[in-house]
Amino acid sequence: MEITFPATFLWGTATAAHQVEGGNVYNDNWVLEHVPGSSYVESSGDACDHYHRYREDIALLAELGFTLYRFSLEWSRIEPEEGEFSLAQLDHYRRMLATCHEHGITPMVTFHHFTSPRWLAASGGWEAQDTPEKFARFCERAVAHLGDLMPFACTLNEVNIGPLLMSFVPDMNAVRSQPWFEVAARKVDSDASRFTPFLYADPERGRATILAAHRRAVDAIKAGAGNCSVGLTLAMQDIQAGPGGEEMAARMRRELLDVYLEGTHGDDFIGVQTYSRQRFGPDGPLGAEDGVERTQMGYEFWPEALEATIRYANAATGLPVIVTENGLSTEDDTRRIAYIERALRGVAACLRDGIDVRGYTYWSAMDNFEWSLGYRPTFGLIAVNRTTQKRSVKPSARWLGDVARAHGF
Ligand code: BGC
Repeated sequence: MEITFPATFLWGTATAAHQVEGGNVYNDNWVLEHVPGSSYVESSGDACDHYHRYREDIALLAELGFTLYRFSLEWSRIEPEEGEFSLAQLDHYRRMLATCHEHGITPMVTFHHFTSPRWLAASGGWEAQDTPEKFARFCERAVAHLGDLMPFACTLNEVNIGPLLMSFVPDMNAVRSQPWFEVAARKVDSDASRFTPFLYADPERGRATILAAHRRAVDAIKAGAGNCSVGLTLAMQDIQAGPGGEEMAARMRRELLDVYLEGTHGDDFIGVQTYSRQRFGPDGPLGAEDGVERTQMGYEFWPEALEATIRYANAATGLPVIVTENGLSTEDDTRRIAYIERALRGVAACLRDGIDVRGYTYWSAMDNFEWSLGYRPTFGLIAVNRTTQKRSVKPSARWLGDVARAHGF
């Protein structure tokens, strides 16, 4: 074998509740998806019906060779109205955790993966000063019910996603002034200035709220049942300078990465999530370089970004790293295997240099609801028939599962 990994290294795949569960009318995203003229190309609908099919899905992941499954709790199911907690929904997630353990899979639970209860988003959401307290209360209730089965927890997914998207998707900044956004806000008895889903928070106000929520959540989870390793996850691109772009790239690293990495003080690990690189010139992002292969998302096919970002995150925080997401959307599964193989070579190089990387998680277990782009991008190791919900294992799933079993390739 050319590349080997430690026997304790965790091999995972990930999903997020709203992207796979289906039929959730309680969260803010469902509202956005259903406003005519919104930037969402379709509704999440039944998604992958993972809410009912999780047993078969988890069994399949175990059979393929995976040892870690990262999934998220849907806050809006657990607390559909403020202060009203559903024990039935908490039991649902308890069954999911138990199913992982039955199959020898280590579960990693994300407490917030982009979606929020409608009532939270309507009342100021991720810019409001009392949101950290509300999030901590939810974490406390959830961990009291689930903590004994939960070895790893991520508080919030991609705490920097809003500012990151705003740095390279020009329309992101303007979303909240679009007429359809006001219509969405009114649907939840709010208005466009108060209605604040996670992705659309103002970078400054959002950062303060989100980082405070993270800290409160770490304390709440640690104080609860079980002995959980807790961290946050960061959307990391390998930020590079194009010609004359050194200053801009340094500024972007500071604003999009460093200020969030500083917020991890006291955590147990840092979750690195990397898809590609981003080059900056003196005036802003340069976009994809001519001649570089692109993925379905339009990102450059750049698996080496993972090694660069693991090194960056570890150097900035000194924390153990878990790759909590890495992947690409493509119709050509042979390119998926090529991408993962190159990314894993980078992980192995970090390990050789003594960086404590504890696991690699491919995004995503299944083709799923890719937010505003609907079901068009296919990130999954497993395809899902949109009519029958039949799962079809792609060769990349078998390839990565075999790597997990052999501890290398
Ligand atoms: C998010 C996922 C998303 C993936 C692919 C990450 O930013 O955590 O929810 O589907 O990237 O775009």
